[in-house]
Order: sequence, then C-alpha cells, then structure tokens
Amino acid sequence: MTFRINSLLNTPELNRTRRSVNSELMKFYSDILALIGKTPLVKINHLTRQHKIKARVLAKMESLNPGYSVKDRIGISMIEWAEKEGVLKKGGTIIEATSGNTGIGLALVAAVKGYKCIFVLTDKVSMEKARYLKSLGADIVVCPAAAKHGTPDHYVSTARRISEETPNSFYPDQYNHPANPQAHYQTTGPEIWEDTDGKLTHFVSGIGTGGTISGTGRYLKEMNPDIRIIGADPYGSIFKTFKDSGHVPEATPYLVEGIGQSLPVGNADMKIIDDIINVTDRDSFELARQLSRREGIFCGGSTGTNFAAALKVAKDLDENGLVVFIVCDTGEHYLTKFHSDEWMKEKLLLEPQRITAGLIAETKNSGAPADLIFVTPDELVSNAVARMNEGGVTQIPVLEDHRSVGSLRESRILAKLLENRNLLNSKVGDVMDEGFPVLEMDTNLAEIKLKLHKNPAVLIEDFKRITGIITRSDVLDLQK
Ligand SMILES: Cc1ncc(COP(=O)(O)O)c(C=O)c1O
Repeated sequence: MTFRINSLLNTPELNRTRRSVNSELMKFYSDILALIGKTPLVKINHLTRQHKIKARVLAKMESLNPGYSVKDRIGISMIEWAEKEGVLKKGGTIIEATSGNTGIGLALVAAVKGYKCIFVLTDKVSMEKARYLKSLGADIVVCPAAAKHGTPDHYVSTARRISEETPNSFYPDQYNHPANPQAHYQTTGPEIWEDTDGKLTHFVSGIGTGGTISGTGRYLKEMNPDIRIIGADPYGSIFKTFKDSGHVPEATPYLVEGIGQSLPVGNADMKIIDDIINVTDRDSFELARQLSRREGIFCGGSTGTNFAAALKVAKDLDENGLVVFIVCDTGEHYLTKFHSDEWMKEKLLLEPQRITAGLIAETKNSGAPADLIFVTPDELVSNAVARMNEGGVTQIPVLEDHRSVGSLRESRILAKLLENRNLLNSKVGDVMDEGFPVLEMDTNLAEIKLKLHKNPAVLIEDFKRITGIITRSDVLDLQK
C-alpha cells in the first residue's frame, strides 16, 4: 500500500506543491492538505528545569497541523486508501465514530475533495470540536458516552449501522484500518527520527485507536530497537492492565478526551509498546495548563497525559536521555472545558492557588447568576428577617451605597428578639452587628479560609463596591 501522504510529506513532491505558477517568487500550497505533517519538535525548558530533569524533552507539535491535531495524518491516508481501492466514489459519504479530531481530519479532506461526512460522537466530546465539525460541513450524531461497547447506542455501533444504511458510503473504522498506523509509520516516525538525528531514547504517546503509537513506534524500533515506546493511559482505561497482565478490566469513567478505551482495539499493537504509564485526570489537565502557561504550548488534555508520562520517564534519565512526546491537539478545543477555571472548579480539579474570592463568588449556585441579598441600615428589622427567610440565609450584610456598614446574624438577632419583640419595628442600623470582613476579588483560598474561621461570611469588593458574599458552606462545597 502506498499513500499520497507519504509522497506529499517526505519527498521533494512537497516542493512541487509550492511551485510558482507564473513567477519564480510566488510560493503557495496546492491546497490545505499539503500542510499536513512535517510538524516541528519544540524543547520544553521551564517545566523540565522545575522538575530537575537532566534529559531533553521535546514536544512533537501535531497541534500545528491544519486541523490542529495528530489525526489530520490519518484523515487523508484512510480516504486516499478508499479512493484507490474504489470503496469511496464521487459524491460519496464518509461515516466515522470519532472523539472529534479524526472527524476534523476527515472533514478537511472531504471539504477539499467534495465528499459528504457524518460523524458519530459521544456526549463527552467538547462543544468546540462538535461545532468545528459542523463548520467544516459535517453532520453530527451524538451518542451517550455511558453506552457500553457492543450495545446499539454505543457510538461505534451507531456509526457502523448508519454506514450500512447509507448508499455509496465509506466507514473508515480508524480503530482497525491499516492506513491509520501506516500513516504514522510513513510520516510521524521518520520525521521524529530525522529531526532528532536518530538520538531519541524514548517516545511517549497516548493510545486512542493506537495508530500513533503503533505506527510511529514500529518505525522507530526498526531504526533502533533500543528506543523505548511508552504509552500514556488515563486511570480508568484498560490499556495498562491489559498490557501488564493480558486481562481486560472493567473500565471506569475519566474526563480526558481522545485516549484510553474500555476494550482492546485492533490498531493498538501491544507488542510495539514497552511500558504503559497511568495518569490521573488531575495531572493531565494540570500539566496541559502548565504547558500553556509556562511554555506557550496551548494543548488539549491528552497532551497533558503524555507530558505527565514523559516527565516520569525523563526523571530517571541523564543528559543523554532524549524524550519525544506527542502534542495531540490544540487547547482551543477545550476552552469551555479544562482550560476554564469555572469548569475545573466544578469538577473539583482546580489548583487551590487559582481559587480566588472572585471565582468562588461568581461560580457558586453552579454559576447561575444570583443577586447579592442585603439590607440597608434604614430598613426595619422585620423586613430584614423576612428577606433572610426568603433567601434561606442565616446572615445578611448591611450595605449603604454599595459599601459594608454592618451585618445581621440570625442567631444574635433571634436572641435579641426573644428579649424584646418590639425590636422588629426598629431600624436595622440601630441593632446591627459589625460588618463581615471585606476581601478583594483576587484573595486566595487560604486567606478566605482564615477569615472564615472567625466569621460566618466574607464580602467581596470590586472597584470599591461590594459585589458578592462567600459563606462557610460555599467553601465546603469546593471540598466535597
Ligand atoms: C485528543 C486526542 N489525543 C490523542 C489521540 C490518540 O491517538 P491515536 O488514536 O492515534 O491512538 C486521539 C485520538 O482520537 C485524540 O483525539
């Protein structure tokens, strides 16, 4: 089997796609597909120094492909295989089960070549990827992520059924199609070998379909059997246990997208892989966020999984170690997910140092906008008690011109009312207690907790206006 991707990426043919038409000075590509592959390696600096790593760790920037992921390589290779074999004809429809990126890789090719696309996703796939697919002209079907493998609702069974029902359609089946690992054998592997001058010692990749690790790994092992091929696998996926024991455990849910499986898959060749390292969602997201903040490499969660495994491997190596890990896709696909502090906080994954007073106040009540409940000093105590009951709160700030002037606390006001019921007709300003501490928006969690030891609530101030309140139970909610 030969693929155009091979000739496009690894031979002088690429230059021909750039050739000028009527001037020696003009440079352009024949179409967007000519930009697939030939991605650069980028050295990690700050984070390796921070972890006291002596070996070099290099990121293979697959996020720089035109569809922003490693999957562009297999989109074109599987479609060109189908055209060659006569499986995909003019006007045909491409149908695939995908966590999004393969769909994007296929949809790019379909857009250029004029095919229709239907992609079956799970409801775990980010909104960004689903919208991206629609923008590329694809139709989307969404299945529950919780559906078990082999059941009719599972996204792979659904894609297979739709392809059987659709005339002139091609179902690539990336989990088993040989053009998937072959694309990496013919392009990703040679690129890494050449760009490291054959000096790499370890290659780290996640395992979704297994195409990247099996194809790249096979090429690298052929060049030098001592190169260690390391799989990065989310806790909850079966690959590590399957590799170590041959036993397929029950999979459990995890949040990282695109890698890990609940069953072994055809393209994940365990013989090529030397070792598999399990990584938690917390570490995957935290390291992906750090790659963005500290190295400027804006990437998805599976890249964080790979980087976590790469750091673990690199820790035991000396200066001669050279670890290459895959940057699978761009962080743009996850702006409403783990790249959002609100989402991370909701999943109880946010690093404590990033939990600020402003964030807690904004996102309590599951992010539903809630008006701050308060009273003014001129109101009657009876009004204040009624407002506390309505709002279901046990303390209320007293504000004047958006500034804190005092507070009413249920236990104290009830004690006073038991002694003198007429207080109900007094003004709040005459009976109120001292105000709650006022904190700036960027106050960190440790300081908030310290204040809440002595006070039932703290107020949040933004540009000298009280805008929110944080109670002890709001902070307890963060630790559930
Ligand atoms: C974000 C992401 N990372 C990694 C992978 C894994 O690549 P492979 O399927 O080649 O194992 C995928 C595959 O879908 C993915 O979408």
